[in-house]
Amino acid sequence: MKLLDKLGPLKANIGKRKRLLGVELSSSSVKITELKSSSGRSVLHQAHVVPIPPGKVTMGNIEDQEGLASELDSIWSSLNIKNRNISLALPGNLTILRRSRLPYVPPEEVEKAIKWEIEKTLPFKLEEIHFDFHVYEFYEGESIDLIYVVARRNIIESYQHLFQTAGINLDVLDSTFLALANTTIVNYDELANILFMVIDIGTENSNLLVIKNNRILYSRNIEVGGVLVNQTLAHATGCTLEEAEQLKLSGGADEATLREASHTLATKLYGEVVASLNYSQNLLGTQEQIDRIYTTGGASNTPFLVTELNALLNADVETLSPIRKVDLDPQLDPSYIDDISTRIAVAMGTALRPL
Ligand SMILES: Nc1ncnc2c1ncn2[C@@H]1O[C@H](COP(=O)(O)OP(=O)(O)OP(=O)(O)O)[C@@H](O)[C@H]1O
Ligand SMILES: [Mg+2]
Repeated sequence: MKLLDKLGPLKANIGKRKRLLGVELSSSSVKITELKSSSGRSVLHQAHVVPIPPGKVTMGNIEDQEGLASELDSIWSSLNIKNRNISLALPGNLTILRRSRLPYVPPEEVEKAIKWEIEKTLPFKLEEIHFDFHVYEFYEGESIDLIYVVARRNIIESYQHLFQTAGINLDVLDSTFLALANTTIVNYDELANILFMVIDIGTENSNLLVIKNNRILYSRNIEVGGVLVNQTLAHATGCTLEEAEQLKLSGGADEATLREASHTLATKLYGEVVASLNYSQNLLGTQEQIDRIYTTGGASNTPFLVTELNALLNADVETLSPIRKVDLDPQLDPSYIDDISTRIAVAMGTALRPL
């Protein structure tokens, strides 16, 4: 298995190789998608968001290997999913993705140059990690523009062990950031020339990406998500966090408290958006503004959140559609896909195969 075998041109090309299901395993649920191709278009063949019991995965760490493996095995069986070959998007907080410009070396020496860079800039020994890279551009004799991803070996091994125990073949390890970029680039190809941002707002974590010219400029993991909304609701009403989650999802929370909760979340995200924009402008060497931000992830549905972000950022904030340019298999229930569409962007992105 190659780590992060997804750094190619980030284009969909399903069907030429063994077809893999795209999977995101997170603290709340497992998301499973399968794409096929038909006449050059991607077709979503199946998509599931299945809750997993709390405490099995926290911050991407697998807390109960055996219990979770048997849970995954029964999810595959009960949904009658025949394909047990997957591409898994590792959580954003457990991978480091860097866009970097290194002094020029010939192609055969790039790997060595990245090892130097990793040793110099990251707090890991090389033997503790796996990495993979993709060169965007060689500037002959000057520099190399590239992207690389790093993940710790022990994390990778714990995911390998989990899926092996579940009888599921972990073929490709991907990164949440690359998967999100894939989904966005495939669905919004007309944005190629503008600088824009994608924010995936999950349970405990959010992942932020800045993209231009179909290339990731910058990525950042932020340790906030829907739990923060629950904490504000629980504090205001005196209920437990679990009750707050139910209150939020059932639409029973009062408007003033929800506004306060979404304001708190939006404010946390705002600071990170500004920092990421500054970083990206430095990389580009311009003051180019971001005028479009796409949100996804379950917590992006928090009432008033998009309005709050809009007001803070003075940018056009929209919900990302992962199926904007993807057809639906006629057997799928469009209203179910609509319900889960903010939660499958990562799983879909990792199901899209590069050329
Ligand atoms: N309709 C909704 N309104 C508000 N919040 C919602 C809604 N639906 C889901 N959420 C919240 O979204 C979060 C789950 O979203 P998602 O599945 O994208 O996260 P995740 O991938 O499990 O999280 P992480 O990546 O942090 O592990 C939970 O916090 C949940 O409360
Ligand atoms: Mg997630």
